[in-house]
Amino acid sequence: MKDFYILGIESTCDETSAALLKNGQEIVSNVVYSQIELHKKYAGVVPELASRAHAAKIASVISSALGKIKPDYVAFANGPGLPGGLLVGSIAAQTLALLYNVPLIGVNHLEGHLFACELTGTPKINPLKFPLVSLIVSGGHTELWLVKNYGNYKQLGKTRDDAAGEAFDKVSKLLGLGYPGGPQVSKWAKEGDKNKIKFPRPFMPGTFEFSFSGLKTAVSYYLRDNKNANKADICAAFQSAVVETLVKKTLEAAKKYKVKTIAVGGGVAANNALEELMKEKAQKAGLEARFVKKGLSSDNAAMIALAAYKKIQFKAKQGKINIDPNMIVRSWNK
Ligand code: KG4
Ligand code: ZN
Repeated sequence: MKDFYILGIESTCDETSAALLKNGQEIVSNVVYSQIELHKKYAGVVPELASRAHAAKIASVISSALGKIKPDYVAFANGPGLPGGLLVGSIAAQTLALLYNVPLIGVNHLEGHLFACELTGTPKINPLKFPLVSLIVSGGHTELWLVKNYGNYKQLGKTRDDAAGEAFDKVSKLLGLGYPGGPQVSKWAKEGDKNKIKFPRPFMPGTFEFSFSGLKTAVSYYLRDNKNANKADICAAFQSAVVETLVKKTLEAAKKYKVKTIAVGGGVAANNALEELMKEKAQKAGLEARFVKKGLSSDNAAMIALAAYKKIQFKAKQGKINIDPNMIVRSWNK
C-alpha cells in the first residue's frame, strides 16, 4: 500500500501545533509552538493574545511540520476551544485542503486527547480497548466520558466550575509559584507532607460531576489564616485532594458502566501522583488504566491527526471512504 500522510492542525487554546502522521500510526513530525511565555504574566490564557499569536505562527508551524511532504488529508481541531484560535486553525486547514485538493477532516479536540493514549510508540500505536471510561483533564476540561466504541460517546459528567488544571494554575498563582501551575505545584508537592493539612474532597456524591473552585477557595482561606504556611505542604495537600477526587470518580464510573479500561488524557494527565494512584486503584479493581505518554498530554496536533485517522477508518467501514471531500467538510461540525 502506498504511504499516506495526515496533516493535523491544533489551535484550540494556547498551543499552535501541526503534525504529520504516516499511515495512521507513525508521528513523522509534531511541531508545537507554546504561548506560555505570552500568557505567563497574566497567570492564565488571554484569548485575544492567543488568537493573534496563532495567526502569527500558524504558517511557519505548518511549514516546519510538512517539510517536503504533500499531505493526503488535512485535519484540524474544530472545537471545543477559544473562537479566535478555532478560526485560525479552520481557515488554515480549509486553505491547505483546497491547495492540495485533499479531504478536510474536522475532529473534536477531546477525541484527540482520548486517542492520544494510543500514541505509545511501542509499537507505534497501541489501540484502546472499548468499552472504556475516559477522563479528560486539562486546563479547560475535566470530564468523564463513556466510550462504547469509536464515535459512540456519552458524557457522564464534567466540572461545574473550574477545571482541575485551572485549579492547579490558580493555586500556583496564590502561592506565587509561576505558570502553568500544574508542573510547579506537583514539583513542590514532592517535598511536602500531604497529611499536614486537610483540604475538602469535592466528591459530589451521586453524580459524575466535579467542582474544584471550592477547593481553590479553601487554599486561599488557609493562606489568609496561616501567613507562614509551608508551601510544599499546601501543594501536597491540594494535589492529593484533586487526585483522590479524580481517581474516586473515575473508578466509580468504570464500575457502574462495567468497563475494563480507563483512559486518561489532557494536560493534567502528566501529573505523576494522579497516574500512580489511578493505576494502583485500577489494578486492585482488575482494570487497566491507560495514560497518555509524557510529552503528548498537552495540546498537540499529532493527537488531532490520529483522531482524524480514526474518523477516516470509521467512514471507510461505512463504505463512505472514496472520500467525497464535500461530505466531510459539511459534517465538520458534528
Ligand atoms: O491540555 P492542556 O495543555 O491545555 C488545555 O486544554 O487546557 O492542559 C494544560 C493544563 C494546565 O492547567 C497545567 O497546569 C496542567 O495542564 N498541567 C498539570 C501538570 N502539567 C500540566 N497539572 C498537574 N500536574 C502536572 N504535572
Ligand atoms: Zn486540550
